[in-house]
Amino acid sequence: MIFVTGGAGYIGSHTCVELLNAGHEVTVFDNFCNSQREALARVARITGKSVTVIEGDIRDGVALRDALAQCQPQAVIHFAGLKAVGESVEQPLRYYDNNVHGTLTLLQAMAHAGIKTLVFSSSATVYGDPQYLPLTEDHPLSATNPYGRSKLVIEDMLRDLYRSDPTWRMGILRYFNPVGAHASGLIGEDPQGIPNNLLPFVAQVAVGRRPYLNVWGNDYDTPDGTGVRDYIHVVDLALGHLKALERLQKQPECRAINLGTGVGYSVLDMVQAFEKASGKPVPYQVASRRAGDIASCYADPLLAQALLGWRAERDLAAMCSDAWRWQNGNPKGYASD
Ligand code: NAD
Ligand code: UD1
Repeated sequence: MIFVTGGAGYIGSHTCVELLNAGHEVTVFDNFCNSQREALARVARITGKSVTVIEGDIRDGVALRDALAQCQPQAVIHFAGLKAVGESVEQPLRYYDNNVHGTLTLLQAMAHAGIKTLVFSSSATVYGDPQYLPLTEDHPLSATNPYGRSKLVIEDMLRDLYRSDPTWRMGILRYFNPVGAHASGLIGEDPQGIPNNLLPFVAQVAVGRRPYLNVWGNDYDTPDGTGVRDYIHVVDLALGHLKALERLQKQPECRAINLGTGVGYSVLDMVQAFEKASGKPVPYQVASRRAGDIASCYADPLLAQALLGWRAERDLAAMCSDAWRWQNGNPKGYASD
């Protein structure tokens, strides 16, 4: 049994599918602050298996203790968290409370239950403005906003905990830019309001919900002047979690590992690939740079390959066509139902 916090969310729901397909039992613990129960109904439709759902908040230590005592999971995958950078600048205390206090409460409940295997969702944002590329795991860490700092604080908390008790088994997965959707088109990213991230915005332009894309700057030091990122298919990312669990079964450790493809694409590359995948035009206009953005960011994915035997398999065309199938079939996300 795997206990998945935030399992109803974008990456969590895709990971639930892969866990169920691999024969694991799954309990999702989620407060649904940024997700819909419908996502888990769809997970059941895809896999023919259901997940146990516990509605609860990771800051509620009593609820967590009860849930862990009831499930006796072999491991926890911890996705629950708030993730909007701009919002974190406006509401830093809410971010520290939800992400840091929430994770602290989870770790205390796990220690209490004697469950010491954890896979944690970190982010490439902990590298700050890259000093060199591709980013290796030993690149210096820094944060430029409260969201990123909450990830950094949690990483440090996990490392401190491991130092104090090396029987913990902890995988810190640093995601690059997750995109795409399950190939069924039944689950996908369902952002509330105006999407901040590029691909959901592009998808909403292609489906006709928004007139055009703003390209945030074309004067960066990149091949076409627009920002370059390491987009990774969410199903590849989900499979990385299963590989991390497998490794942690073999030995205690606390290690950070990049999950990226190692390849960077520009904003205009993404627009072009999405137009091709969807057969729809994606009009855009160039606007000024978005505050806090960096020119380029992509992973060195070799550690994941060496330690987990994992590499991303799905290419840009698959990322775009799967995102399009989800967007086109569910133009308003899960609310379409
Ligand atoms: P998401 O918002 O779709 O999923 C997060 C889930 O956690 C949601 O179902 C939400 O309801 C739940 N949740 C939030 N706070 C909670 C709380 N206090 N108690 C219980 N449940 C709570 O986000 P996602 O894209 O699936 O991201 C999952 C994790 O990966 C997050 O920790 C995020 O910071 C991290 N991450 C995401 C990205 C990305 O681009 N999507 C990149 C790097 C890291
Ligand atoms: C954002 C977050 C980062 C998080 C990452 C993955 C910020 C400042 N950073 O990074 O912390 O880890 O998502 O979730 O929000 N773009 C446009 N127009 C748009 C949207 C984006 O041109 O409408 C460009 C951006 O300038 C960037 C690229 O597209 O060059 C990707 O943007 P985005 O999807 O927001 O991801 P990141 O900037 O990498």
